[in-house]
Amino acid sequence: MNTKAIIGFEPELPYSVEEAINRLRINISFLGRDVRKIMIISSEPNEGKSFIAMNLWKQMALSGERTILVDADMRKSVMAETYQISREDGKELWGLSHMLSSNKKLQDCLMTTKYQYGDLLVNTSNIVNPSMLLESRRFEELMELLSKYYRYVFLDVPPLGLVADAERIGNICDGAILTVRAGVTSKRIIRNSISQLERAGCPLLGFVLNRAGANGNKYYKKYYGKYYSQYYGSEYYQK
Ligand SMILES: Nc1ncnc2c1ncn2[C@@H]1O[C@H](COP(=O)(O)OP(=O)(O)O)[C@@H](O)[C@H]1O
Ligand SMILES: [Mg+2]
Repeated sequence: MNTKAIIGFEPELPYSVEEAINRLRINISFLGRDVRKIMIISSEPNEGKSFIAMNLWKQMALSGERTILVDADMRKSVMAETYQISREDGKELWGLSHMLSSNKKLQDCLMTTKYQYGDLLVNTSNIVNPSMLLESRRFEELMELLSKYYRYVFLDVPPLGLVADAERIGNICDGAILTVRAGVTSKRIIRNSISQLERAGCPLLGFVLNRAGANGNKYYKKYYGKYYSQYYGSEYYQK
């Protein structure tokens, strides 16, 4: 029996955002049985990967598909903190980097949630250079195992532009969804990301044009403003 996670911060989304995520979920379900491991990627930090990954995971689980969200950003993971994730039994939270580096078992790290079909594998201990771990057979085997049990494995990963992690992860995924920040991400950067995905042999399943109209939007200020600058300083991802 797996541990249950409590998600402390789950703001209600405006209807339009909820609907957009819902459409994304439906489009993904048309991609066929073989598309199971999907990474949510972007060129740069702050384009909304984690936000999309979290909400997509939730909606997919609510639709009755067995789905796991894996926090594969082992450099600067913020999922557990942002969404105030803790274990119901009060014990320490273990995650992906523990599994890959310190022989923790999957059952020590994987958590169920209040969503019957939605499980979580977070990351709570950041490491300076996770490339070795991502290149290990263990990571590949873990992803294979998860994709047998879950209909969808969504992976929240570091941005493409700064470190090679996402290319490595993309190489073992069935596809990627590229999050683009409306009016901010340049065409040149997007083109670069597309060729990086091609190099990694990871099919681009689609784009999400995110954070359109974020400036001056009351909703952002109310719910997300304080998270915005807290985690993203200029030192984000050092090579
Ligand atoms: N569609 C959205 N609606 C509301 N807030 C969003 C949306 N997308 C991103 N955000 C907020 O913007 C900030 C950056 O998003 P995040 O998902 O952390 O980016 P990334 O994971 O790409 O670095 C966070 O505070 C997040 O909650
Ligand atoms: Mg993120």
